[in-house]
Amino acid sequence: MSKVDRFFKISATEYDNYVRAEWQQYVDHPARANESLAALEGLVVERALDIGCGSGQELIPFVVKGSAFGVGVDVVPETGRVGRELFSELLDEARVSFVRSAAEALPFQTGSFDVAVCRLALPYTENDRALSEMARVLRPGGVLLLKIHHAAYYLRKAESGLRAADARSVIHALRVLTSGVLYYATNRQPRTRLTGGETFQTRGLLRRKLAPLGMSIESELPDSNPATPSFVIRKSTRRD
Ligand SMILES: C[S@@+](CC[C@H](N)C(=O)[O-])C[C@H]1O[C@@H](n2cnc3c(N)ncnc32)[C@H](O)[C@@H]1O
Repeated sequence: MSKVDRFFKISATEYDNYVRAEWQQYVDHPARANESLAALEGLVVERALDIGCGSGQELIPFVVKGSAFGVGVDVVPETGRVGRELFSELLDEARVSFVRSAAEALPFQTGSFDVAVCRLALPYTENDRALSEMARVLRPGGVLLLKIHHAAYYLRKAESGLRAADARSVIHALRVLTSGVLYYATNRQPRTRLTGGETFQTRGLLRRKLAPLGMSIESELPDSNPATPSFVIRKSTRRD
């Protein structure tokens, strides 16, 4: 069984099933798409990027409801397999493309997107490099819709693992919590054998990391919750 990546330890078939289910959930609950569009009211969206895209369902409001060109990137070999099929079922002439790439080295020119979405993929990346790439590929005034795993997510995971006597789940949660605490305290994300590479983020940590990139948190989306907050982040129009 080939594992799709280092942190997301599931088989290719399980991955396809997972991203298909995420797509279906999104299509069945149109509120999320409407909320993304409402958060971007006034912004002309011609090019949208989904980083760590899975099936790329977050592109639907821009590609299907708007007429933007959408690009989904993900690090797994299966990138685009499910997404291409589902987009063509939804809209024959959908202008969408999938590229296998790491968030830490996006193969796009500076300032090429009006919107970038990154939903629950940041925890698995080298955060500083990934955030810097997100800032780079957005045009001045562009918006990043970012959903993260807060420390509360892993505390809940540890708690439910303990209740279910699931040692693997508890150990995983504790490793990520250790990694996140070290990241918060030292400003450097540890990626060691002990901690692994996955980490949580907090509002404070994000603010600290975004400011030097010319980005700031503008608001939170309605689906924000303590475990997985969702942010509307704007790139400054200043070019210094
Ligand atoms: C929890 S899933 C979320 C998928 C999708 N955004 C969604 O909401 O359905 C995390 C995704 O991040 C991808 N990922 C992990 N590390 C990555 C990296 N370094 N660069 C790009 N994508 C990455 C995984 O392959 C996976 O598809």
